Amino acid sequence: MMIYLDHNATTPVHPDVVEALLPFLQGKFGNPSSIHWAGRAVKGAVEEAREQVSALVGCEPGEVVFTSSGTEADNMAIKGVAAALGGRGNHIVTTQVEHPGVANPCLYLESLGFEVTRVTVDRDGLLDLERLEAAITDRTILISAMAANNETGVLFPVREIGEIAACRRVYFHCDGVQAAGRIPLSVRDDSISFLALSGHKLYAPKGIGALVVRRGVKCHPLIHGGSQERNRRGGTENVAGIVAFGRACAIARETMNGEMGRIKGLRDRLEEGILSRVSGACVNGHREQRLPTTTNITIPGVEADSLLMALDLEGIAASSGSACSSGTLKLSPVLAAMGRTPEEAKGSVRFSLGKGNTVEEIDRVLAVLPAIVARLRGES
Ligand SMILES: Cc1ncc(COP(=O)(O)O)c(C=O)c1O
Repeated sequence: MMIYLDHNATTPVHPDVVEALLPFLQGKFGNPSSIHWAGRAVKGAVEEAREQVSALVGCEPGEVVFTSSGTEADNMAIKGVAAALGGRGNHIVTTQVEHPGVANPCLYLESLGFEVTRVTVDRDGLLDLERLEAAITDRTILISAMAANNETGVLFPVREIGEIAACRRVYFHCDGVQAAGRIPLSVRDDSISFLALSGHKLYAPKGIGALVVRRGVKCHPLIHGGSQERNRRGGTENVAGIVAFGRACAIARETMNGEMGRIKGLRDRLEEGILSRVSGACVNGHREQRLPTTTNITIPGVEADSLLMALDLEGIAASSGSACSSGTLKLSPVLAAMGRTPEEAKGSVRFSLGKGNTVEEIDRVLAVLPAIVARLRGES
């Protein structure tokens, strides 16, 4: 039995999404900018996808800019605002636990002379809103904070951050890559200026994402070229990817309520099962303010990499943090920010669940995991 519990790294493409995209790899090959029949057939599909994305996240279709990834969307928001407003202010407020897609553009801007304040989180991974607000100065041009953390699933209070940003008249970029399709998000109601999304986290293929840019918000393009995406991103569109992303958003919108209840039930069964069977195991992240799909658990006395390899031999795929940092020896900055020691961080594994998971799969993990831990601890 092959068991996939790494949906925060990527998700399998939904069969209906494959069906929706295939015609655009076969007969429907036109360029959406062409005015003839071949172009028109494709242009309509791109605009339908824009509507489907906007319906999932509560914005206007014309505010959706398709990109190549969540990372590109994050870069576009952060560097695009810096380019547009750098003359007015040079300060960005972000958090200590952002994905590299946000953290690294901020580091890059620092190298160009911008100032960045990284607001800390507490032991549960929660953000201190008072500190966030206190960090804003008259030079601040942007707040960048994620909706849901990729490593722990912990949720930030997006609406409250949006209110602070609106009140202080600074833009709010929200990395919604892990949250979209899993919890409700509304660009309009949450006063978000920019929202980054990624297709492959919600059952669409890799290599397609979007940045929602609210109407009237100032932001320079990252990629200069043709007039595609209302001059916000040059380059002929990834039509098949866009159509797939749109369909995936429509499915997420229809199924989120029911699916997330079911997946949360499985996550809780897995988490409680591990906590009761493995001595010393404890959860990283606030138990309530968290994605229903994710659990990050420290298992003292084991190295996560050894545990993950042993699980892999049983056909079970999990992760020790973000896919980008696993495979490197660097400890998770997210767990460090939450006050975990290097020892604790080294023994931390992330299980992230999705649509295909079943009770039988969870019970299989619970059947094999305690023995693996005992063996790695030298207890058997
Ligand atoms: C929170 C978060 N932001 C951004 C990204 C980057 O998205 P992409 O893989 O589409 O570049 C990820 C992917 O892991 C993520 O988890």
